[in-house]
Amino acid sequence: MAQQIILSTALSGEVTALCEAKADKLFVLTDTTTHEKCLPLLKGCKALEDATHIVIGATDTHKTLDTLAAVWQQLGRQGGSRHSMMICLGGGMVTDLGGFAASTFKRGIRFINIPTTLLAMVDAAVGGKTGINFDGLKNEIGAFNESEAVIINTQFLHTLDSENIRSGYAEMLKHALLSGQDLLGRHLDFDLNNPDLPRLQTMVAESIKVKEEIVKADPHEHGLRKALNLGHTFGHALESLALEQDRAVLHGYAVAWGLVCELYLSCALRQFPENIMRQCVRFIRDYYGTFAFDCKTYDHLYELMRHDKKNQAGVINFTLLNGVGNIALDCHATQKDVYEAFDFLREA
Ligand code: GLY
Repeated sequence: MAQQIILSTALSGEVTALCEAKADKLFVLTDTTTHEKCLPLLKGCKALEDATHIVIGATDTHKTLDTLAAVWQQLGRQGGSRHSMMICLGGGMVTDLGGFAASTFKRGIRFINIPTTLLAMVDAAVGGKTGINFDGLKNEIGAFNESEAVIINTQFLHTLDSENIRSGYAEMLKHALLSGQDLLGRHLDFDLNNPDLPRLQTMVAESIKVKEEIVKADPHEHGLRKALNLGHTFGHALESLALEQDRAVLHGYAVAWGLVCELYLSCALRQFPENIMRQCVRFIRDYYGTFAFDCKTYDHLYELMRHDKKNQAGVINFTLLNGVGNIALDCHATQKDVYEAFDFLREA
């Protein structure tokens, strides 16, 4: 059954309607932040009156096997059965870990996602990727399993700071690049210093549509879904380097800088128009700043990219663009090309 995406106008009513297909027990998974800041938006929701709450630590550092085990334990000890249901209320960490807990407890119980960050609304909570970090590797253990529904309620955007809005927006920019000139034009025209939230709401719906179409065509990432990795091959390496150097960056910032590098390669290797690349680079520089790194880190960054789990036989697989909306999967680049892209990012 396809994942139902609900563009929410009345959150409590929508949650209650989804819970009507009777579950013997309802669990609500939050982290400490969403428990405090987001759960109050569900106040008065009838369906939650008898729900059992499970609260886990916030941030990616808690996306671990220990946390997962604690959630399984709570589900078991609080009377969860195969006929129970879980609501995952939070950002990508909660929807990824919660989705995996629900997919594996008693071989799988029903779950719905209520993403509370922009990043989770347009990406993590949609499309069925669930999992945890393991042995120092991000999302190393997991499963494809779509939540029954995703409720998108942009009221939650009011709980976010501007860095988290920008972080989610980078994934929207990626979707626009994969889609076409019209959507990209509107994304480059958006003022992230003073985000117009009603307008952002419409753009969120458009952005999810882009991802939905891709996931529908290739749910398990054998082909087209690799398009969603645009910006991520460089982005993940930059994110890992920042973490190693104790200056962690939000995922979307790394993706934005990754887009700069991969658009550069798209121009160099695939005829992507240089003027559009420069417009995107300007937008990213204005709203995401730059990432400081020197050429002594190039070899290490390259090694990080070679260990990306999306590669085959140690060869780095890039998603590039021949043009806006014109996707080129499984592209290869020489080490020299990659180092030139690092130079370009530093100079941009
Ligand atoms: N975040 C990329 C995907 O869902 O495939």
